[in-house]
Amino acid sequence: MSPTFLPMLGHTRGNRSAATCHFKCGNACAKDVCNTSTNNYFRDIADTALSRRALLGLGGVAAAAVAIGVDVAQAPEAAADFGGFGQGGGKLRFTAIAPVERTVDEVTVPAGYTWEPIIRWGDPLFRKTPDFDIENQTARAQAGQFGYNNDYLNILADKGSTRSGVLVANHEYTNEDLMFDPAWMDDDHVDEARRIAMAAHGLSVVELRRKKAGTKWEYVRGGARNRRITATTVFAVDGPAAGSDLLKTKDDPTGKKVLGTLNNCAGGTTPWGTVLSGEENFNQYFQGTATGSPEDSRYGISAGPTERGWELTDPRFSAQNAGYENEVNRFGWIIEVDPQDPSSTPVKHTALGRFKHEGANVRVAADGRVVSYSGDDERFDYVYKFISRDKYKPGNKKHNMTLLSAGDLYVAQFSGDSPASEIDGSGTLPADGAFDGTGTWLPLVVDGESKVAGMSVEEVLVYTRLAADKAGATKMDRPEDVEPHPTTGKLYIALTNNTDRGKANKKAGADEANPRAGTTSATSNRDGHVIELTETGNDATALTFGWNILLLCGDPKAPASKLYFSGYPAEKVSPIACPDNLAFDSKGNLWISTDGQPGTIGYCDALHKVTLEGPDRGRVEQFLAVPAGAETCGPVIHDRDDSVFVAVQHPGDGGTYAEPTSLFPDYVAGRNRVRRGQAYAPRPSVVQVFSSRANSGAGRSRGARATTADAS
Ligand code: FEO
Ligand code: CA
Ligand code: CA
Repeated sequence: MSPTFLPMLGHTRGNRSAATCHFKCGNACAKDVCNTSTNNYFRDIADTALSRRALLGLGGVAAAAVAIGVDVAQAPEAAADFGGFGQGGGKLRFTAIAPVERTVDEVTVPAGYTWEPIIRWGDPLFRKTPDFDIENQTARAQAGQFGYNNDYLNILADKGSTRSGVLVANHEYTNEDLMFDPAWMDDDHVDEARRIAMAAHGLSVVELRRKKAGTKWEYVRGGARNRRITATTVFAVDGPAAGSDLLKTKDDPTGKKVLGTLNNCAGGTTPWGTVLSGEENFNQYFQGTATGSPEDSRYGISAGPTERGWELTDPRFSAQNAGYENEVNRFGWIIEVDPQDPSSTPVKHTALGRFKHEGANVRVAADGRVVSYSGDDERFDYVYKFISRDKYKPGNKKHNMTLLSAGDLYVAQFSGDSPASEIDGSGTLPADGAFDGTGTWLPLVVDGESKVAGMSVEEVLVYTRLAADKAGATKMDRPEDVEPHPTTGKLYIALTNNTDRGKANKKAGADEANPRAGTTSATSNRDGHVIELTETGNDATALTFGWNILLLCGDPKAPASKLYFSGYPAEKVSPIACPDNLAFDSKGNLWISTDGQPGTIGYCDALHKVTLEGPDRGRVEQFLAVPAGAETCGPVIHDRDDSVFVAVQHPGDGGTYAEPTSLFPDYVAGRNRVRRGQAYAPRPSVVQVFSSRANSGAGRSRGARATTADAS
């Protein structure tokens, strides 16, 4: 394997380590912006915007009614098709922790709570799978072990049980610098190293058990539903582009059968109990054609060799190998997995379009159709919505698993209601006191027909970014999770950051939905923001919406630009930056995990609770911090169980195999790499935070830990 090349070393875009940039998204920020389209952007359409209140049908006193309209979203946990999340009676009361300095290699939790890993990279899922041994790893072993860099997470209790369930986690990417001894990665072993990395991608499904509600879950080695999905698992392709010539390769002349899933980032659990997962920065795994194409450029696919070099081990990873020109088109989709049936074939849904899907989340509309929302996580890319053709049938999983196979695809266009002259890029509120306005879902495919001139349905679905450019979508600041609220139906959109907005050659300046822009840290959108969107009439199938900015993130004690917390006093909130994954508790509070706080506001990444209703609306309270180098992913909030779950991704990024900068979660000292199943290495892990009162004797506390300094 070629030596690691870190082009972002010393000049990451203010939010993450060079290693994270390199391995996670193929240095996307180091490269030119993919979206060079000149589609109408915000200001061109602002003048034609309808009044937000008129569009929402709101009179002076009607606003509250929207929040409790008949079309109430179905929280996955509340749906009838699978179990709830325990009856422990807890309320998850906590006092916000102080932000944690970015070098602290520790999970920090509030007083009264403790934490334990449930499962770690390398833990065996099956009885015959070898125990983790970082010095003697094989692709065969890894394919039966928990994968690397867990991201999306859900903990699904079995229906009617408080003591059994399943854990589902994505494995977004691999960090070869931390996984492998460089001395071993010679010509004799490089193919095996690549196959280990392929096996460490994908998803895991693992059975859980515990003694009683409110206590710690343990994973079940050899559980009947345990499953690994990797970069070589067989997937079926469905929807309008299945069988398209654009998806055919010499290994698959049907265009309906794909091996593997890649760079699975966030996801969602459907009301029928399946898991959706987004194939995000898939482009970095593929070598494009030598000549390139507008499609390759728009998706960031390069003609040069890839940095992981998978094309040297498996020819399908290069479009320059005859017969594999279309292999890259078979990635970038939303996949659906049934975690209850380990023999089921997972599906790639072409009806939802192809882009760098962060994830997807489903809401059931009042008329029974289902709506899936998805963000395309790249600077200046878009927010999408899919409306199913057919209707949800409670309890009929077989039918419901066809809902994402046929329907209409739209992309969001946002308009502001304040004069453009008041949106100056600094983040200063306009005279009407809010960044807000209306919007339209622009049609891409409706009733089986393309709504984009010059593009067929298949082309719209395979090259969705180009179709959305033509439609005139609004360029956003990296849309990550897009989550419907389980009771109000409002949509929350995490826009993680974009320090390129406003730069002279980037074609998009500040607009009311992305109001911070500039080339200096004082004006750029370094710290991200969160949008709250209300579909017209609170109807999930509506084609217009209202929106407002909920948070302009940052550190109130050292603001780099203007901050906003929906009117809540900034001096009373926890600092927050780079919002990424979203979740809700049973009371309807929003929880936000972050990806990038160390590089912007200087603190370890975190999980924050945000109050949405009442006088404390906009109050941000930090619940936990993850260890040095890590990002907080997949938050799952079981407040009735006094439990919170997070996927701790890329702990110790920036360190090396020989010199790790994190020893989370085992904290084993010394360079004997493995001791009783624990390792002298950081291991991405799923962590449960739970009440120490209900679990006496369990959990980890600070102190008495090995540190990386102990190794010498
Ligand atoms: Fe994989 Fe958009 O974060
Ligand atoms: Ca306004
Ligand atoms: Ca993410």
